[in-house]
Amino acid sequence: MRTITIAIDGFSSTGKSTLGRQLANYLDYVFVDSGAMYRAVTLYGLQKGFISETGFDSEKLIASLTDISLEFVNNSEGIAEIHLNGENVEKEIRTLEISEYVSPVATLSEVRKKLVELQRKLGEGRGVVMDGRDIGTVVMPNADLKIFMNASREVRAQRRYKELLNRGENISYEEVLENVTERDNIDSTRQLSPLKQADDAIVVDNSEMNISDQFHMILQLAKDRIAGRI
Ligand code: DC
Repeated sequence: MRTITIAIDGFSSTGKSTLGRQLANYLDYVFVDSGAMYRAVTLYGLQKGFISETGFDSEKLIASLTDISLEFVNNSEGIAEIHLNGENVEKEIRTLEISEYVSPVATLSEVRKKLVELQRKLGEGRGVVMDGRDIGTVVMPNADLKIFMNASREVRAQRRYKELLNRGENISYEEVLENVTERDNIDSTRQLSPLKQADDAIVVDNSEMNISDQFHMILQLAKDRIAGRI
């Protein structure tokens, strides 16, 4: 059977990686969570003290990019997790602290250049599902299927809030809503590769949709594309 490339873009907390993992799992494709890569670079900056409450030394972060090695490694359940310089950082990158610093890091052209190169390599020559902000527009402009996901800001903040609470973070809904709003603004107004719907993307608003219905709807689109029906 022919393999295809699937790009999933959209605003933060729209469930892109949940959907991406489901599709990749079902189709036996590789899944690339590009946001995890920007988060891991941000974690590195925090660990090294280039990013802190008092400021962001972007020049130092850029100068250290060659020291950063990123890899996705499957865990015992077959779920790909991100490793930063050989260490599994999947948990550390999902905190609200990282979410607060990641968007400014993702505006840096040097960071984007390095990560886009890596993303293209990871998807080369195989069936791939990749999620992010610029996958259908910049990373894989020729992707066979492009999905652009959205949901109301409040629904997204509520989902992320629940997720963070389950992980044991001590935060308020208002803080999460503020972060989601702030990231939407930075991600969609930055000069370089802003979050933008590709002209040929299919828009899915999942404010009122459950995860299973969404999966089956998009899986059908993928199957149609694989079979050349659409
Ligand atoms: O998908 P996420 O919330 O884990 O992404 C974290 C941040 O990384 C997001 O706020 C913007 C940035 N990002 C990006 O600029 N380009 C991508 N392809 C993926 C993420």
